[in-house]
Amino acid sequence: MDNLIDKAVNLLKSGEVIGIPTETVYGLAACIDNKEALNRIFKIKERPFFDPLIVHVSSRDDAKKLTLDWNIIADKLVQKFWPGPLTLVLKKNSLVSSLITSGLDTVAIRMPNHPVTLELLYRIKVPLAAPSANKFGKTSPTHAEHVRSEFKNENIFVLDGGPCEIGIESTVLSIETQENQYVLSLLRKGFISVEDIKQCLINENIKWNIGENVNALASPGNMKHHYMPSVPFVLCKKLNLSKTDILFEINKCLKNLPQMTEGIKLPPLNDRITDFVELKLSNNPQLAARELYAQLRELSRKILNVFCFI
Ligand code: TXA
Ligand code: MG
Repeated sequence: MDNLIDKAVNLLKSGEVIGIPTETVYGLAACIDNKEALNRIFKIKERPFFDPLIVHVSSRDDAKKLTLDWNIIADKLVQKFWPGPLTLVLKKNSLVSSLITSGLDTVAIRMPNHPVTLELLYRIKVPLAAPSANKFGKTSPTHAEHVRSEFKNENIFVLDGGPCEIGIESTVLSIETQENQYVLSLLRKGFISVEDIKQCLINENIKWNIGENVNALASPGNMKHHYMPSVPFVLCKKLNLSKTDILFEINKCLKNLPQMTEGIKLPPLNDRITDFVELKLSNNPQLAARELYAQLRELSRKILNVFCFI
């Protein structure tokens, strides 16, 4: 592993984009001081430039160096949740290019909890910008093999850190200072809940508030078209339907899909769906999260139609 981390350092330093493991999902990484490499992330991922990237650091001090308004709330949250699946959005300074932030004056930062990537960050000494290592809108990767197969044409080097322990993305939280209090907004739900965040800050003698719901408008990445497997995937809220009824509901639902959503074309379905497979996940939410993306990929690979009860 030692040699592989050195190889990753050299590739990143020479301007390459590589796959890196984190505890949430695999990332597609580039050094934040290399604009060409940052551009390549968007190109390889087919990601629109309006969707900003998360910067990965190896310490609270490295995070602070990238921001203008690091504050006591950030410190409390970081003490409790870093390294870990919490991304903080704060005002950026000039060390962070607007390519990373899609022109926003804020930057999203987190310290991932994966020994291999932490070691890589210590050795390279430059923060790494890394979105999830999947083509834009597609299912996120939780195994090195997922990244290799997603980018087989681009021949990306992937630092293999084994399966991701958490399996879903980090929670994204913005912290703003307004008048004499801190306003926290949830920009993306993730492994850490609003309740966890409230618990962490509850005894602090500071004025803060947080909304329960995702502030979707404040985060360009909150699109309907997301995590899409390569076969149709349907969520059904009605339990205890017969197979025939389920197929009827699926076909009705697919027939009513728009041709486009948020500027993205949806592939038309020419034939009726005649069969489906149920996605089976653990009742334990943490295990279900760990398995979700890998199972979506595995089922998609094997079969034509996937069906899920919630
Ligand atoms: O768990 C994770 O967060 C993974 C691993 C690789 O760290 N990364 C990840 O990155 O999920 P990505 O690019 O797939 O999602 C980043 C999200 C997007 O929804 C984006 O819009 C939001 O973070 N984001 C990034 N910078 C932002 C900013 N300055 N303001 C608001 N939202 C931001
Ligand atoms: Mg993503």
